[in-house]
Amino acid sequence: VPVLRILGLETSCDETAASIVERDENGEGRILADVVLSQLDEHSVYGGVVPEIAARAHVEALDGLIVEALHRSSMRLSDVDAIAATSGPGLIGGLLVGLMTGKAIAMATEKPLYAINHLEGHALTARLTHGLAFPYLLLLVSGGHTQLILVKGVGDYERWGTTIDDALGEAFDKTAKLLGLPYPGGPAVERAARTGNAERFAFPRPMVGEARLDFSFSGLKTAVRQAAEAIAPVSEQDIADICASFQNAVSRTMKDRISRGLARFHERFGKSVEKPTLVVAGGVAANAEIRSTLETICAANRFAFIAPPMALCTDNAAMIAWAGLERLALGLPADGLDVAPRSRWP
Ligand code: KG4
Ligand code: ZN
Repeated sequence: VPVLRILGLETSCDETAASIVERDENGEGRILADVVLSQLDEHSVYGGVVPEIAARAHVEALDGLIVEALHRSSMRLSDVDAIAATSGPGLIGGLLVGLMTGKAIAMATEKPLYAINHLEGHALTARLTHGLAFPYLLLLVSGGHTQLILVKGVGDYERWGTTIDDALGEAFDKTAKLLGLPYPGGPAVERAARTGNAERFAFPRPMVGEARLDFSFSGLKTAVRQAAEAIAPVSEQDIADICASFQNAVSRTMKDRISRGLARFHERFGKSVEKPTLVVAGGVAANAEIRSTLETICAANRFAFIAPPMALCTDNAAMIAWAGLERLALGLPADGLDVAPRSRWP
């Protein structure tokens, strides 16, 4: 396969992003440009992402970001071999903006268009950053998703576990909100937890001990609310203690869930996989305690642990570009210009 280049677009939530990625003859990826514009400031006053504001902000930003990505990579549209745009899952207004832009460029330049599943972008990122071989396990923990996925090949995935209620990032965000901490809640809870007593509150550890690999976080969030109400008005130290205890419960839960996942991988593949690997992705991967918990579990279970650089763990267009390159390199068919965005897409 010759050297391939692609333009990637990402607009599924509150990050507008454009990227140019190259794949060399040996299958190694190189990011030539990766431009991300966060809409955080526009949404933070509302305490969460407002879909209509997000869609309008994507419209305003995307063209300029594409021009910037081309400029930084010293490329013209005629230099890329294909266009890749996120077509789901996500907020439908934003998806429409990115996919329509991708279609317009594909039509004008007569290049193939790849409509990419956002989760597939996260799933394949470790192949771009680390050249990782199939199969491997992916833990995706973001504001919208909490999934443990067996990645067997391009377009070949098994979902081993998912949340039956809130996503993990969402649990952090809701916990922060009810304690009066700023949005996004993850970084705020982590910061507050540093000076807290993790043993003060015995919060539930949902799903621990269950054989199936799913997650559940809404009960934990409710327990946090009840604890806060019981001691109201809460002091700064109370908040720190609640955050530390919450994070502790999350870590213990993850330890149980993920250990089971690793064991299942060993059962399934035995010695046939030379270097079993767990990859983490999503904004919650920034959490130092969760990260170190995962590292410890991996070490104890003969697993390598990969956390791609944070900018590639959170939403970005390089991962969308790479997912398109993987399909292009395999000679998989491009999508028609009638492809529709999907707000839900497992
Ligand atoms: O992947 P991401 O940037 O966006 C999507 O959800 O797609 O993830 C954002 C989520 C938010 O829920 C945020 O609170 C959480 O990741 N997060 C964290 C931390 N940093 C971000 N959660 C826990 N600890 C953190 N340090
Ligand atoms: Zn994402």
